[in-house]
Amino acid sequence: MKTIALYSIKGGVGKTAACVNLAYLAAIGGVATLLCDLDPQGSSTFYFRIQPKPKYSSRKFLKGGKWLDKAIRGTDFQGLDLLPADLSYRNLDIQLNGFTKSRQRLRRLLESFKGRYGYVFLDCPPNITLVSENVFEAADAILVPLIPTTLSMLTYTKLYRFFEDTGLDRRKLHPFFSMVEPRKLMHRQTIQETIATKIHLMNTYIPYNADVEKMGFFRQPLMHYRPAAMAALAFAKLWKEIKTHIPEEKTNGS
Ligand SMILES: Nc1ncnc2c1ncn2[C@@H]1O[C@H](COP(=O)(O)OP(=O)(O)OP(=O)(O)O)[C@@H](O)[C@H]1O
Ligand SMILES: [Mg+2]
Repeated sequence: MKTIALYSIKGGVGKTAACVNLAYLAAIGGVATLLCDLDPQGSSTFYFRIQPKPKYSSRKFLKGGKWLDKAIRGTDFQGLDLLPADLSYRNLDIQLNGFTKSRQRLRRLLESFKGRYGYVFLDCPPNITLVSENVFEAADAILVPLIPTTLSMLTYTKLYRFFEDTGLDRRKLHPFFSMVEPRKLMHRQTIQETIATKIHLMNTYIPYNADVEKMGFFRQPLMHYRPAAMAALAFAKLWKEIKTHIPEEKTNGS
């Protein structure tokens, strides 16, 4: 089982859009996949038309075991399940703090999915918190969407330094440009400047494409309702590239 996080300190950079579409691609590629929504906004949960069960909460999530099994919901797509999030997840940080080995809790919880899922995708909330540190420990790969602007790059550098300073494995970090508008000089310049640095960028970038915004209307992955859209083609390319970094795993299916 490989755990892939969509993470950024910054909000609104395309984490959820990438998470939903990459998880969909993983599942239609024939590998049992779980999307674990960790964001109290519950955007992935919404995009897949899923409502958490009324008594489900972040506390049950942290209990793990049968509580997790009960909370997992099938999506409209074969091989793709979702563990929903709701507003109670705003308390995850405080609740995690109560555990011994509080940074390893998420990894422990996800271990129970080994053999059942080939890929687990984590849709993360923005910010850098104890939840994020759990993600850093649990994930095999951390995909970081970057809008090509000065501030985004500065924030990414901070994340990279945080990994260095705390002894985390920097090789897990896979930044890629997101919502790219080549007509904007700032975007073109930032991309060129970044390529010239040591930052190990993914080759694929996701263009700005209004079709992505319609995910809120169709409540489906873009890959499903408009597979030939510019951003959909880019997500497919990105998924291929990610798989060269994290080899596919076979499962019993779910
Ligand atoms: N490539 C794209 N082209 C155009 N719009 C996009 C693209 N990617 C995402 N968006 C839109 O930008 C907004 C933010 O995207 P998204 O929710 O994926 O970001 P996020 O990083 O998950 O945000 P948050 O930090 O709030 O969780 C959404 O309205 C989404 O539809
Ligand atoms: Mg999001």
